[in-house]
Amino acid sequence: MKPVFKQGRGVIARYRDFLPISDKSPVISLGEGGTPLICCRELSKRIGRGCHVFVKNEGVKPTGSFKDRGMTVAVSKAMERGAHALLCASTGNTSASAAAYAARAGISCAVILPAGKIASGKLLQAFAYGAKIVAVEGNFDDAFRGDFVIVNSINPDRIAGQKTAAFEIVDEIGDAPDYQVLPVGNAGNITAYWDGYREYYSQGRSRTLPVMLGFQATGAAPIFHNRLVEQPETIASAIRIGNPASWKLARAAIEESRGTIDVVTDEEILDAQMWLARHEGIFVEPASAAAIAGLFKCCDANEALYSFRKIPEGSRIVCTVTGHGLKDPDVIMQRMRELKPVAANLDAVRRAIEL
Ligand code: F0G
Repeated sequence: MKPVFKQGRGVIARYRDFLPISDKSPVISLGEGGTPLICCRELSKRIGRGCHVFVKNEGVKPTGSFKDRGMTVAVSKAMERGAHALLCASTGNTSASAAAYAARAGISCAVILPAGKIASGKLLQAFAYGAKIVAVEGNFDDAFRGDFVIVNSINPDRIAGQKTAAFEIVDEIGDAPDYQVLPVGNAGNITAYWDGYREYYSQGRSRTLPVMLGFQATGAAPIFHNRLVEQPETIASAIRIGNPASWKLARAAIEESRGTIDVVTDEEILDAQMWLARHEGIFVEPASAAAIAGLFKCCDANEALYSFRKIPEGSRIVCTVTGHGLKDPDVIMQRMRELKPVAANLDAVRRAIEL
């Protein structure tokens, strides 16, 4: 029986002709396509000059992160090749996604995670979907070493799947945006977006190409510094990476698009996370908020590598937010005051909400 999705058709169903999928490929999908592209009034105001800021909310996906886009293609291809098991090393979201798609495909999955450095929501997901979980001492880059890799982000099928986000953006806006802002960890996603934009451009589906702007966390910024970071550290655990797998490809995307890779501090990331939730109603995990913090830096900061202060009037900017805020509840919990129960009557409730 063919799976039917009323909403959020799978990316293979929608973009099959652009993907390495043949009639022989089984389609392993959870309906991961068509995430919202939200026109954000308050963000646009921050930029001014009649610019339009859109947030591509990739947290609205089967496992709550953009990884599902590539995983549907990678797991479908793995099944075509007769795979019985998936393996990946991850800062969390890839493992959640791999575990879900392995369950969907009816095969097993093992995930290798940095001990104590993974957001609790992602760990719970891997467990719930039935993956075998191995926690390793050290960081993501150590977990990444080895020849067991099947569905890590260097897997070309995953990059192919992830480029469909750029297709969706062009299909919706009618052209490429002027700027594409992304958080950067292993740099697979920025590579995939650039692939997607170039492919659509070369087929005449867009008239322009965007400037690509990537943001790393200050304590985990190897591409920005152009050197390995032995001990990466950031609150945004998803992008806590010191030796990105797609380093060179990301550099090429930045250079070809005349964009840049800049950094944002943990404090800027957390402020941007709260700001986006409270002003636009979009709650994202810290790594995703790096894109929003980056946008603010381009608007406000003198030290920004790319300035939006003299950006052409009416520019269109897309910020991709990559994962749902509930992935990492602990980060928010730390900012909450303890709740003190009040009596269950109207007066007490009124007092509590200061009415
Ligand atoms: N945002 C989130 C929420 C992520 O999980 C990741 C990467 C990124 C951004 C960066 O994307 O690596 O393509 O540059 N997460 C990987 C993982 C590393 O294992 O889940 P990238």
